[in-house]
Amino acid sequence: MNTEIVKIDPRAIDQKVLARAGEILKNGGLVAFPTETVYGLGGDALNAQASQKIYRAKGRPSDNPLIVHIADMESLEAIVERTPPEAYVLAERFWPGPLTLILKKNGRIPYETTGGLDTVAVRMPSDAVARALIKASTGYIAAPSANLSGRPSPTEAAHVKEDLDGRIGLILDGGAACIGLESTIVDLTEDVPTVLRPGYITLEMLREALGEVRIDPGLIADDAKERPKAPGMKYRHYAPRANLKIVEGESDAVVREINRQTKELLSHGAQVGILAAEETKLRYEAGTVISIGAREDERVIARHLYGSLREFDALGVDAIFSESFSAAGVGQAIMNRLLKAAGHQVLEV
Ligand code: TXA
Ligand code: MG
Repeated sequence: MNTEIVKIDPRAIDQKVLARAGEILKNGGLVAFPTETVYGLGGDALNAQASQKIYRAKGRPSDNPLIVHIADMESLEAIVERTPPEAYVLAERFWPGPLTLILKKNGRIPYETTGGLDTVAVRMPSDAVARALIKASTGYIAAPSANLSGRPSPTEAAHVKEDLDGRIGLILDGGAACIGLESTIVDLTEDVPTVLRPGYITLEMLREALGEVRIDPGLIADDAKERPKAPGMKYRHYAPRANLKIVEGESDAVVREINRQTKELLSHGAQVGILAAEETKLRYEAGTVISIGAREDERVIARHLYGSLREFDALGVDAIFSESFSAAGVGQAIMNRLLKAAGHQVLEV
């Protein structure tokens, strides 16, 4: 299959391009499209075969449910058993935006879309192209991140092409994703609302809106006994091809240790990448350094994380050392993804 990338300007959406993409979706085909978080690989969420195609194109285990993207509240009410008051509170504050809600599904959403679960993940994105595409489709687009399973999520159309070339027909290119990390997932089917995946909407923001909010114990636990409730969170994920290690500790010690290990690896003929903050990037004496952004603005770091990991892939490095980033606010989501990308290899210095 030939994979075409078509540019689409979010401020002046080409209606012909949009109609063509909408038709593909209505006919059970797949279209990759931009959202404010990461690029999604879309298919009609009401069509079991379309969902199966998504799993196949990504090489994704079929027990890992998809997020259903909608453009208005009526669409939510039409696919869930009931809409709890917390859903209205969160929707009012954070939709359209980078928040996904887990609710009990009704019969309209096929089990193929939810990986066999009785619950469904729903998100109303704010990206203009995403919203227009949902409206041009059946109103329900199932979309995981548009990467091959296990790879860093795509924040640009070119990343999607890297992973899915030949596997899908159309990629809508609406420019770089402004957030760069996948949505926060909140489970509203438990007694207490529970965060299953941290993201741009932070725990503090959710608590301010709802009062008590928990974090899924499976997210924090290091041992395999506590399984994360979002099936996708149990897989190794977001990983670059090279072995990635996080070095954590006081800044001078981190720089010293990364310099030492980098030189050691270089002397054995390996290529080494270093993922550093803007503040420390000039202190590395060898290896290829990529600056992820200044520590004072976590949002910039979030936006550059996946692209930086893909850059190291393109450079063909064998090993990557990364500094650690603060785990407060959006930093919690950044560290969650970085730790998974590193397969939890952390060196304390
Ligand atoms: O920002 C995002 O959420 C992006 C864009 C494209 O919208 N999508 C995305 O989808 O990140 P994906 O498939 O890469 O991640 C979906 C996560 C997985 O960890 C999956 O297990 C979890 O959501 N999930 C989906 N439905 C669920 C459900 N019913 N119960 C628990 N977890 C669910
Ligand atoms: Mg994903």
